[in-house]
Amino acid sequence: MSDDVLVYGAYGHTGRFVVAELLRRGLVPILSGRDATALEDLRHRFPGQRVRVAATDDGAALRSAAHGVAAVVNCAGPFLDTALPVAAAAVSAGAHYLDCSAEQAAVQQLYRAYAEPDSHADVVVLPAMAFYGGLADLLATAAVAGWSAADEVTIAIGLDRWWPTEGTRTTGRRNTATRLIVEDGRLAPVSGEAPIRAWNFPEPLGQRSITRAPFSEIITLARHISATSIQTYLATNALDDIRDPTTPAPQAADASGRSAQCFTVDVVARRGQEMRRTSASGQDIYAVTAPLLVEAVQRLLDGRATARGAAAPGETFDASDFLTALHTSHVMIEQDTPDGHRFA
Ligand SMILES: NC(=O)c1ccc[n+]([C@@H]2O[C@H](COP(=O)([O-])OP(=O)(O)OC[C@H]3O[C@@H](n4cnc5c(N)ncnc54)[C@H](OP(=O)(O)O)[C@@H]3O)[C@@H](O)[C@H]2O)c1
Repeated sequence: MSDDVLVYGAYGHTGRFVVAELLRRGLVPILSGRDATALEDLRHRFPGQRVRVAATDDGAALRSAAHGVAAVVNCAGPFLDTALPVAAAAVSAGAHYLDCSAEQAAVQQLYRAYAEPDSHADVVVLPAMAFYGGLADLLATAAVAGWSAADEVTIAIGLDRWWPTEGTRTTGRRNTATRLIVEDGRLAPVSGEAPIRAWNFPEPLGQRSITRAPFSEIITLARHISATSIQTYLATNALDDIRDPTTPAPQAADASGRSAQCFTVDVVARRGQEMRRTSASGQDIYAVTAPLLVEAVQRLLDGRATARGAAAPGETFDASDFLTALHTSHVMIEQDTPDGHRFA
């Protein structure tokens, strides 16, 4: 099978991390997006790589870009604008589709479009395989392993700061759909004022104020986890950062291009009196999206996916095994569950 992976939006901030991670793992990126000049500039940074130009409103060009590849990784957001056309091109080329959407409505669009497996029986359509979305989905899946249902799944995301990219800002403006949470066992729009509470993250974050901020993980988890309540909270200092138009974009703080930003995603699952906690800590939410996406690509290509068609990360992969593979110097995973491990 081909090792070619089309990276759509390759010259964006996240796309560049994904291209570098694919090369690091011996896969073959093909640089794609709508701007031919930006793609040529990127080729100077990654010499020898192929380039395929296609705009999202040109289905023929997108299909031709996806021709012969094993997977398409879409890093071009807002995904409300790009996910459906790029996924359609991937599926028609017989390639897996992955993206890094934090937008709930964009994930729902794909789940609806690929609900029937007929036209895409051999490929996986995997949105939200990213820091927001996939990471919490995998952590929650590991936390509830072996339970038929949970009473509560609480996701708390701590950031020491959030330096947003232009893509994040544009996506925030585009993403005006009412946010959803899981309440009484089903998806429901948030209502009332967002509560503010305190959460104890591991150091260096420590105790932070958090408030309700549901991202795409609510949609992915609602597909495959039975829980009365699933809620996501985000540190209020991070929300203050992205609401401030003067907060700068991320700057590289090391040779890999990562910024100095620290994160922790804590997941606490409760069934009756029983509590389980899983968490992931690391540096730079954009950079860490690359190993998440590329680990998923590698598992799709070598046959370690258990789902076909539109799917959530935790129903596609063995969550605990995936998290173990991520546990590198870049991400520290802690699983405090009976059949999990606690990494030092
Ligand atoms: N879920 C997560 O944790 C997570 C993590 C990382 C990124 N993201 C999301 O990924 C997206 C990209 O983020 P980024 O940080 O890489 O931003 P960025 O550096 O600003 O890059 C945005 C990329 O998207 C492309 N793009 C935007 N709209 C497009 C359209 N309609 N058609 C074709 N290409 C389009 C841009 O191309 P042009 O320059 O040609 O417009 C550019 O390549 C955002 O939606 C962001 O929220 C999510």
